Amino acid sequence: MPTRNKSQGASPPSSATAAKPWEHAKSGEGSGSDPLAASFVESLSYDTRLYAADIFGSLAHAAMLESVGLISRSDQDAITSGLAEIKSEIESAMHGPGGVAGWAGWKVELEDVHMCIESALIAKIGDAGRKLHTGRSRNDQVALDLRLWLRDAAVTMTIAIDDLLSAFRTVAKGQGEIVLPGYTHMQRAQPITVGAEMNAWHAMFTRDRHLINNLCASNLTDCPLGSGALAGSVLPLDREMTASALGFSSPSASSIDSTASRDEALDLLYTLARTSMHLSRLAEQWIIYATTEFGFLTLDERFTTGSSMMPQKRNPDMLELIRGRCGGIYGHLMALLTICKGLPIGYNRDLQEDKRHVFAAYDTVLECVRMAARIVATVKFTPERIRVAGGGLDRGHLDATVLAEQLVNAAVPFRTAHQVVGALVQLCDSTGRTSLQQLKPNELIEALKSRNLEWARVDAAAIIGMLGAENVVRAYASHGHAGTGRGGYKQTMPRAAEQGAGGVGGAGGVGSAGGLPTVAPVTKRHAPAIVPVKQPVHEPALPSQIAPTNTPAIVTIPTASPQEGRPGTPILRKGHSRATSIDSPNVEPEATVLFADDDTNGAATVSQFNQRLIAAYVEVGRTLDDLPYTEEFIRMCELASATEAGMNEHAVFRRLQNIRKAGKLPPIGRASSRAPRLSEAEEGWLANAVVETVGSLGQRDQLPFTTRFDILLNRFNESTGRSLSPHDLWRVVAKLAK
Ligand code: ARG
Repeated sequence: MPTRNKSQGASPPSSATAAKPWEHAKSGEGSGSDPLAASFVESLSYDTRLYAADIFGSLAHAAMLESVGLISRSDQDAITSGLAEIKSEIESAMHGPGGVAGWAGWKVELEDVHMCIESALIAKIGDAGRKLHTGRSRNDQVALDLRLWLRDAAVTMTIAIDDLLSAFRTVAKGQGEIVLPGYTHMQRAQPITVGAEMNAWHAMFTRDRHLINNLCASNLTDCPLGSGALAGSVLPLDREMTASALGFSSPSASSIDSTASRDEALDLLYTLARTSMHLSRLAEQWIIYATTEFGFLTLDERFTTGSSMMPQKRNPDMLELIRGRCGGIYGHLMALLTICKGLPIGYNRDLQEDKRHVFAAYDTVLECVRMAARIVATVKFTPERIRVAGGGLDRGHLDATVLAEQLVNAAVPFRTAHQVVGALVQLCDSTGRTSLQQLKPNELIEALKSRNLEWARVDAAAIIGMLGAENVVRAYASHGHAGTGRGGYKQTMPRAAEQGAGGVGGAGGVGSAGGLPTVAPVTKRHAPAIVPVKQPVHEPALPSQIAPTNTPAIVTIPTASPQEGRPGTPILRKGHSRATSIDSPNVEPEATVLFADDDTNGAATVSQFNQRLIAAYVEVGRTLDDLPYTEEFIRMCELASATEAGMNEHAVFRRLQNIRKAGKLPPIGRASSRAPRLSEAEEGWLANAVVETVGSLGQRDQLPFTTRFDILLNRFNESTGRSLSPHDLWRVVAKLAK
C-alpha cells in the first residue's frame, strides 16, 4: 500500500493556516487553520503529476468558454498564456534539485494540483483567471485529469511491454532450438524448446498489451468535463467541443456517473494486476530454472545479488522482487474496488484515494516490466546443464506420448496405444532402462501382440529411432506446437511488425504502422484535434510526468522522482535519472555507460557495440536520415544485437548520430526514400510542432522512436487529414531541418 510520503510531492503543510479561497460560506476558520486537518485532506503530495493533464484540460475548457461567449477572447488569451507560463515554471522546477515539488506555486493549504494551478493563474492574470472555473467543478476536473493521465500511462506501459516482447523474440531467435523438458504438475511431461517457452511468454504478454490498448480504445472514450459537481450546469457549455478537443469521442452520458465513478482506473488496475501476475509466473519459472537442481539458465550478473554471509550465492533477487511485488498490485486493485464499494452516487471524497493506488501500481508494474525486459534480454540458457540435469533428458520418458502417437499413425486406437506405451514404460523401469529408446524392436512388437494388435503395421525399429527429446521436438507438427519445425514458434510467434510492437524487430512503437486491426493504437485516439493554432501549450500530459519509455543505460538507477517514483526508490548511481527520459530534450545517451559496474569492462562493451553497429549500418546501406522506421533499421538493430546490449531503437539512433558527429560513420550512397511533398502551411505547422516539442529543428534527432514522435505524428495526421507513416513524417522533419 502506498505510504503517505510527503516528500514525494508538495511541501509539507507547515504553512497550513490560510483560509481556503473556496470556503466562503464558512463563518469561522476553515479546514486550513488546523494543520492536521489540512494535511489530512490534501492530495497535493501525490497528485502534482497531474499538472500537465490539468493544464491541458483547462486550455480546452477556456477555449470552449470563449466560443460559447462565456468569457471574452482577451480573457481566453490571458488564461492561455498564464497557463503556458505556469506549465513552463513547473517544468523548469522539475529539472532543478527539488523536482516537481520545487515549483513555488504548490501550497498544501490549497489541497490539490487543481487549486494550486488555478490560484497561481489568478495571481498572474487576476479576474480572467477567476473565470476559468465557470461551469466546472473539481469533481469533473479531477475525473478528466485522471482519464488524460491514464491514456498516457497506457501508452508508456505499452511501449515497455513491447520491449519485453522484443526480448522474448531475441531469446527465441538466438537460443530457441535448445531442447528443454516441458512440465505439467511440475512433473516431466513432453520435450519443448526454449523458443516454444519464449512463444508462451510472448503470447501471454501480447494479451496484456492488447488489454491495455483496449483500455484506451474502448474504455476511455467519453469526456467527463462539463459534468460540474454532479448535475451539470445551466450555462450553455459545449461539451462536444471540449470532448473532441481533448481527444475523446463524446462527452459522458451522465454527469452524475462520470464524476462519481472510477471504473477506468479500476480497469487499469486490473490490467496491471494481470500483467503483474504474468510477470510473477515468469519470475517463478526462472527462479526454479536458475537453481542448482535445474540449472537450465543463468541470469546476468547484474540481475542477481550475493549473500552477506554465504560467499558463493547468486540469488535471483530481481525476479523474486518481481514475483513479490505482484502482491502489492493485487492490493491496489482490491483497495480501489473496496473504496468504490458502497459509495453513494455523486462525488465523495473517498474517491481522492484512487490516485494513490493507481499511481503506485502503475509505477511498480512499469518498473517490473522494464526490469523483466532486461533480465530476459540477457538470459543464457545452458544446454550443457539441461542435457544432464535430473539424470538427463531421457529421464521422465518425455517421448512416451509421441510413441503412442506413432502407434496411432499405424491405426492403433489412442487409448489402446496409451496402454501399450504404459506397459513399455513399466518394462523399461523394471529392467533398469531409463529411456524408451533403449527398447528392442521386438519388445515393441510383443507389447502390441499381447494386446491382439499384431495386425498393426509398425516399423518398430523406425519408431524407436524417432524417440528421444531431440527427435521429438523436430517431429511436432500441429499449429503452435512446442518444437522446432513448421507450425512452431518460428511461424506462430508474431514478428513485431505484425503486432505493432516496437523494440528490435518492431516498427517503432505504439502508433506505428502495422498494429493489430482490432486494437486502435493508443496514441491515435487522443491527439488533440482542435487546440493547435491558437494555443501554445496543448500536448497531452505526456512528456515528463509520465515515466519515459525504456532508457538505454542498464546501469541507471532511478531517482526518487516525485513524478513517478515509489516511495523510497533508490537514488541515482550512474547514468541518467528516469526523470530525464529519452523523450526529454537534454538526454545524451552516449554519455551513459552501457552495462556493468566496471568501467573498463563497460567501455570495452561500448566500443564493441559501436563496431557492430557501424558494420550493421554499412551492411543495410541506408543513409542515417533515411533509416528511422524502416525494415533496414530493424535489421541493423538485429545485426548489431542491440537488444542484448540493452539498446532500444531510440538509443541506437542516437548512438549512430554520435558516431557520425565523431566523424566515424562511413558515408553511405544516397537516401532511398524522399520526403513526401506537403503544403507550405503543413510544413509550417510541422516545423512549429517540432520546435515546441524539442526546442528547435536542430534538435530533431531526439525525436525518432519516442512517444513524443508518436504524438506528433498523430497530431499531424489528425490536423491535416493525411496518413503519413512514421518514416514519411520523419523524412519531412529531416528535410525541414536542412
Ligand atoms: N483532490 C480532489 C480529488 O482528488 C479533488 C476533488 C475535491 N472535490 C470536492 N468536492 N471536495 O478527488
